[in-house]
Amino acid sequence: MPRLYESRKRILVTGGAGFLGSHLIDRLLEKGDEVLCVDNLFTGTKRNLEHLHAQPRFEFVRHDVTFPLFLEVDEIYNLACPASPIHYQHDPVQTTKTSVHGAINMLGLAKRLKCRILQASTSEVYGDPAVHPQTEDYWGNVNPIGPRSCYDEGKRCAETLFFDYHRQHGLEIKVARIFNTYGPRMHPADGRVVSNFIIQALNGEPITLYGEGTQTRSFCYVDDLIDGLMRLMESPSDVTGPINLGNPVEFTMRELAELVLAETGSSSPIVNRPLPQDDPRQRKPNITLAQERLGWSPKVPLREGLKSTIAYFRSN
Ligand SMILES: NC(=O)c1ccc[n+]([C@@H]2O[C@H](COP(=O)([O-])OP(=O)(O)OC[C@H]3O[C@@H](n4cnc5c(N)ncnc54)[C@H](O)[C@@H]3O)[C@@H](O)[C@H]2O)c1
Repeated sequence: MPRLYESRKRILVTGGAGFLGSHLIDRLLEKGDEVLCVDNLFTGTKRNLEHLHAQPRFEFVRHDVTFPLFLEVDEIYNLACPASPIHYQHDPVQTTKTSVHGAINMLGLAKRLKCRILQASTSEVYGDPAVHPQTEDYWGNVNPIGPRSCYDEGKRCAETLFFDYHRQHGLEIKVARIFNTYGPRMHPADGRVVSNFIIQALNGEPITLYGEGTQTRSFCYVDDLIDGLMRLMESPSDVTGPINLGNPVEFTMRELAELVLAETGSSSPIVNRPLPQDDPRQRKPNITLAQERLGWSPKVPLREGLKSTIAYFRSN
């Protein structure tokens, strides 16, 4: 049931033309809110939003968050940042600027408007973790000068800024540490493992497994993740995070490849390639905090989420 005009919020989503942002916008509009999407279309695309062209409660502004922005809104979700290694390593200086200057600009806006702001942080802040599964009090094991550092350290610095604005200016902040998420509208060429495997399988090309494929990842379906982000935004003021959002069920890369082959019906062979630098061996969230504070846990099993993701890639 859409909200009545008086109770309607005006919500800013940066990075809203991307994978997660576009799903978040759909859900906010379904709830009856007004949504303003700010995106420079670096990795996002208007195609992710084209179904909203006749929606009067939706607006799009093409803007780079590394530059200041003055708007009137009631809440901010800060998602703008390329999320896959191929894209964030394309222009690493711009990646750090997007996380750091983007956070400064959005926090400045939230401070002026006295509104809540949520940061889409990442499990990459844990680096190549020495602790499994990762709890939010683990400080991480991050290489500060490697090829992934623009993303990892940029996101870490953004978290620092969020907590300093909270302590120094009393800003209401929410920091979500997002683990691997997949689903329809993932960028087809971003090199992320789920989309890679699906596209290779659909094209009948070999499925590339880095190393022996024994490294594990956990995969959260996009609908579950968006539910977690919205619960976090609506949580009591004392829930600042950081809070892990992800699916704790682990799969090896080989298991994922086999599942994709089974669900696509493809006969692609599996081939092994050398492991990239700084590739974490294992990553799995501990989501106790999200369960306790947000009443959240993921519901969609991998096999089911893969079906709709495969259907999306097939139709594209
Ligand atoms: N998808 C995941 O598994 C995952 C995991 C951890 C964290 N995250 C975080 O969630 C957020 C969204 O990720 P996603 O998977 O939707 O990625 P995405 O690349 O699909 O979306 C990011 C969006 O940000 C926009 N953007 C990039 N730089 C910008 C800038 N300077 N100004 C304005 N817009 C800019 C892009 O055009 C794109 O639309 C990111 O901050 C990412 O770090 C995602």
